[in-house]
Amino acid sequence: PNPVWHGQPIVLVGLMGAGKSTVGRRLAQRLHLPFVDADTEIETAAGMTVSDIFARFGEAHFRDGERRVIARLITGEPRVIATGGGAFIQEDTRALILDNTLSVWLDASPEVLVARVGRRDTRPLLRDGDTRAILEELARVRNPIYAQAHLRIVSQQAPHDATVNAILKAIG
Ligand code: S3P
Repeated sequence: PNPVWHGQPIVLVGLMGAGKSTVGRRLAQRLHLPFVDADTEIETAAGMTVSDIFARFGEAHFRDGERRVIARLITGEPRVIATGGGAFIQEDTRALILDNTLSVWLDASPEVLVARVGRRDTRPLLRDGDTRAILEELARVRNPIYAQAHLRIVSQQAPHDATVNAILKAIG
């Protein structure tokens, strides 16, 4: 059964390249809600890029900031929130999301993910090694966890509006 949306924040989860930011922005427009990207909020709060936070302070420090930013974003006015791919994988952050929002897993095939992240990516987890192999391994480990989201939507390569329409139909 599909979840019922009654104005709680809508949180998009899923792997890098699943389309969380683009789909989230368009979904917000259609629902006349503000859109916010959690990674951008973290970068603004820290005054540095996600890559720099990973490089200088490590992933654990980033996850801590990420959890605090998401905790702030999910309280307050209803909005659409795109999260970084690892946010929902952290147990505390996942519990916050599951308890307070309508979460949507954007599930994309490895082909779509690879096509979207591009070759010379700045994401720290894709820096070393073969992009497709890394994404396939992340999918193997993470997909069973993303599957706990309230709703699973297959993310189409294009157009994004098909994905947005599928979300609107499911929560409508
Ligand atoms: C990460 C995904 C990134 C960013 C960081 C870690 C992950 O966000 O938060 O590089 O663990 O999957 P996007 O999914 O927006 O690329």
